[in-house]
Amino acid sequence: MMDQKQFDKIRAVFERSGVALTLVDMSLPEQPLVLANPAFLGLTGYTEGQVLGLNCRFLQCDDDNTATRAEIRAALAAGREAQVILRNHRADGSPFDNLLFLHPVGGRPGAPEYFLGSQFELGHCKAGVGAVIGHTDQLSRELSRIGAVSEHMEMGSRRQLAEMAAALVRAWESRR
Ligand SMILES: Cc1cc2nc3c(=O)[nH]c(=O)nc-3n(C[C@H](O)[C@H](O)[C@H](O)COP(=O)(O)O)c2cc1C
Repeated sequence: MMDQKQFDKIRAVFERSGVALTLVDMSLPEQPLVLANPAFLGLTGYTEGQVLGLNCRFLQCDDDNTATRAEIRAALAAGREAQVILRNHRADGSPFDNLLFLHPVGGRPGAPEYFLGSQFELGHCKAGVGAVIGHTDQLSRELSRIGAVSEHMEMGSRRQLAEMAAALVRAWESRR
């Protein structure tokens, strides 16, 4: 089990981060949010009090994300990282396309205690592939800080994360 000190460290990294970060407790029924940082609240327009304790699917409203949701459930069940794109809605009802990064945190390999989620809004202010790579760089640094990757995230796996995200975004752009 993660001790309080480690949890507080994650909270401190979340508070300071410029990228949207959320932490979900995988041991609780419904996999609720236990942390949501200021960048996530800014992106979605919700307050912390409105979101903590909820499963993050509340952002989907009635959108048909069937295939993507199945992909997420499979990754969560296997305890492995994933990147997906989902249609979400802000508190004011406005839609956005969310490039979601999921990373296991704590626990055992294949059975993490938590999952970290990072949300990146696609399609605003010409936020193209370059902006996505900037996001993955920052996310990689935060993952190293909280110890979600052994020691420092290897350069190779950083690049791999950036490349996977860029490929996903290019495919998404070509479908629009
Ligand atoms: C850490 C974490 C962050 C998540 N963030 C989002 C999110 O920002 N938007 C979203 O639509 N779903 C998000 N999800 C996915 C949903 O919580 C849920 O796992 C997904 O919809 C699949 O489950 P379901 O088919 O039971 O809804 C997140 C999941 C986790 C574990």
